[in-house]
Amino acid sequence: MDKLFDLADRVIVVTGGLGQIGREFVVELHNRGAKVAVVNRKLPDKAAIADRFPVDSPNFGLFKADIVKKRELRSALDEIKERWGKVPHGLVNNAGVDTQPSAPPEVSGPFEFFPEEVWREVVDINLTGTFLSCQIFGGAMASEGRGSIVNVGSIYGLLSPIQDIYAYKFEETGTPFVKPIAYSASKSGLTNLTHYLGTYWAKKGVRVNLLVPSGVGRADQDPRFVKNYTARLPIGHMAKADEYNGAMVFLLADASLYMTGTQLVVDGGWTAW
Ligand SMILES: NC(=O)c1ccc[n+]([C@@H]2O[C@H](COP(=O)([O-])OP(=O)(O)OC[C@H]3O[C@@H](n4cnc5c(N)ncnc54)[C@H](O)[C@@H]3O)[C@@H](O)[C@H]2O)c1
Repeated sequence: MDKLFDLADRVIVVTGGLGQIGREFVVELHNRGAKVAVVNRKLPDKAAIADRFPVDSPNFGLFKADIVKKRELRSALDEIKERWGKVPHGLVNNAGVDTQPSAPPEVSGPFEFFPEEVWREVVDINLTGTFLSCQIFGGAMASEGRGSIVNVGSIYGLLSPIQDIYAYKFEETGTPFVKPIAYSASKSGLTNLTHYLGTYWAKKGVRVNLLVPSGVGRADQDPRFVKNYTARLPIGHMAKADEYNGAMVFLLADASLYMTGTQLVVDGGWTAW
């Protein structure tokens, strides 16, 4: 194995590791010999995910925690230490929630009427949950004097969503779909959480960076959404779910040892024009 990208035997936590992108990270890191701890608020039966995850591997573990609950994160850390005898070397703060174009008008309407409770819920998970995960897992990593944290942001945290992409929803239903503010604002918050912690822990050996992806294609997406979204992508197609793996391995591995407190934008060119 190339030492620059070697992750063998490193314990790496992936929050939200059962979702679309998280699964790709989990399987890739596991294939590279890492011990991968999936932290998720809901855990399925192992048998139900055996076709997609290496459930019988000694290097794979499922740990139940809601990232907005500090006590559950602490328990997950204790269980992970007990399981592999080590404080994690890596943390991927991937768990997050978004509002899809299929969402009902109550949670996707005009800014002026966007419900405060939905704002609070999204900010709670995407930003406060990442903060708590950094406190618990990152804090333990800092005590060991080593580690790499990768927060998962979004192009919608760098720039405003282009609302025209969703205009077809109005033509269809007569009700406008407005991509909500809460996702963008919460992902923007991760930018400075990353700057802050990257500098705060720099001399303690814990690096903190932000991966900034653009949208992933899915079979159930409306073709009009895919067409409009793709038109904004210089590269000409939405990402495949595994197209962020290279960047993730780079950020976790020694290849990026001199990189901290900053971001890696992997967006098919979205932000370049
Ligand atoms: N899919 C995309 O197109 C895209 C684009 C840019 C950024 N992202 C970001 O990538 C990350 C992963 O996205 P995805 O599409 O794979 O999401 P997903 O919805 O498929 O999976 C999210 C996972 O997080 C878990 N989760 C949600 N809230 C949680 C909580 N409070 N505690 C613990 N687990 C929780 C869910 O159970 C699920 O397993 C997210 O942060 C998302 O914002 C996704």
